[in-house]
Order: sequence, then structure tokens, then C-alpha cells
Amino acid sequence: MKEIFENVFEHQGRILTPNRAPGSQVYGENLMQIGGKEYRAWNPNRSKLCAAIKNGLRNNPIKYNSAILYLGASTGTTPSHLSDILVDGGIYAVEVSAHSMKTLLRLCEKRDNIIPILADARQPQSYHEVGEVDIIYEDVASPEQADILLKNSRMFLKKGGHAMIAIKSQSIDVTKKPEETYTQVKEELSKELELVEEINLEPYEKDHLFLVLKKK
Ligand SMILES: C[S@@+](CC[C@H](N)C(=O)[O-])C[C@H]1O[C@@H](n2cnc3c(N)ncnc32)[C@H](O)[C@@H]1O
Repeated sequence: MKEIFENVFEHQGRILTPNRAPGSQVYGENLMQIGGKEYRAWNPNRSKLCAAIKNGLRNNPIKYNSAILYLGASTGTTPSHLSDILVDGGIYAVEVSAHSMKTLLRLCEKRDNIIPILADARQPQSYHEVGEVDIIYEDVASPEQADILLKNSRMFLKKGGHAMIAIKSQSIDVTKKPEETYTQVKEELSKELELVEEINLEPYEKDHLFLVLKKK
């Protein structure tokens, strides 16, 4: 077993994180006992960050002690793996759907480093109490994806902090070729954030580009 990023392991072709809530699954993932410790298999078909890792991501800024603002937490699939990675840090998990929030709340009962926030990520002032964070992770599948990231990074991301975003071209403009949309979004984001790395998420996700950016 090899640690490829802080608390992210590769074992026999799978990506694993140490289970913060031993004995419990979040989305039906496999649990594995290795060296007396329980790990959860991270499914790249269910999580875009895992898809990016499988496709060779080199820059993963998430550390043991990161403060993370997660936009579009849904029922908590990817947030649960970030929760596994963190030792001292915390995740502010913003989700607009009350339906998804019900499931997310159940997850938070078992994981005290996820703080659920029922809010619209287009209105960051509604959760201003979050304060400064090291990382913003955005996966909202909205036509306003770039604008949402910029608004939130102006308000919460510390200087030198990182943003991670999964761009879904079909949510932004179905009439354009994905590459045209990616170029447009990258230009918009680059006005305020430095592009560190980009990874196409095929074959795990169609028409998705994953970006890692840094606040200038
Ligand atoms: C693709 S899902 C996220 C999956 C999740 N990131 C994961 O990997 O486990 C997108 C989520 O974004 C949420 N969403 C869409 N627009 C939003 C907004 N303006 N503010 C907050 N959440 C939003 C949707 O309700 C949905 O749950």
C-alpha cells in the first residue's frame, strides 16, 4: 500500500482513505481491513476528485489540517472521503437541496469534522460566518459555476489557498463544444486565480474538466 497524498492510499489499483467511522459505509463502497486498520475504497465513478486522482492528478492541496469550503456537497459522497483525509481540519459542506441535506445530516452525525450548511452557493453572504479557508471545492453543475467559485474565493479563500472545481460543460452551454466552454471558463477564472493543473475526467465522467487553481 502506498500513500500517494496525505491519507490517500493506492492499493492493488484502488484508491483508499482510512475510515473515520469504522464499520460504516456511505454509498455502498467496499470496506477493507489492512494492517489492522479499516479503509474505504474511493469510487472514481462516484467522485470527481477520485476520477482526477485516477487520471494522474499531481497537485492535491488537501492536507491533514485543511479548512475546506465544499460547494455542492449533495449527500456527502466526496465530502466523506475528505472527512477521512482530515485529522485536525474541517469541511463546511454547502448544499442547496433540502432533500440531499437530510442524508448529509445523517452522515454528519457520524463525522464531526463536516459542518452542513443548507444554502445557495450563489449567495455566499448567507454563510459569511465560515470565515477564511485553505481550500474551496466546487461541484455544483450550474451554468454559473465560474462566477460561484470567484464570489466564494473572494470572500473566503486565503491568499495562496487553492480552489478545485469540476467543470461540467453541458451544464454551462449545451450548444458549444466542451473545449470551447473549458477555454471560456479557464479565461474567466484566470483573471483572479492561477491555474495550477487541469485533468480531463474521461472515462469516469463525460464532458468534465477538473481544475486546481491557486489564489494569487
Ligand atoms: C454533482 S452533485 C455533487 C456531488 C458531490 N460533490 C459529490 O461528489 O459527492 C451537485 C450538487 O450541487 C448542488 N447544487 C446545485 N446548485 C447549487 C447551488 N447554487 N448551491 C449549492 N448547491 C448547489 C445540487 O443540489 C447537487 O446536490
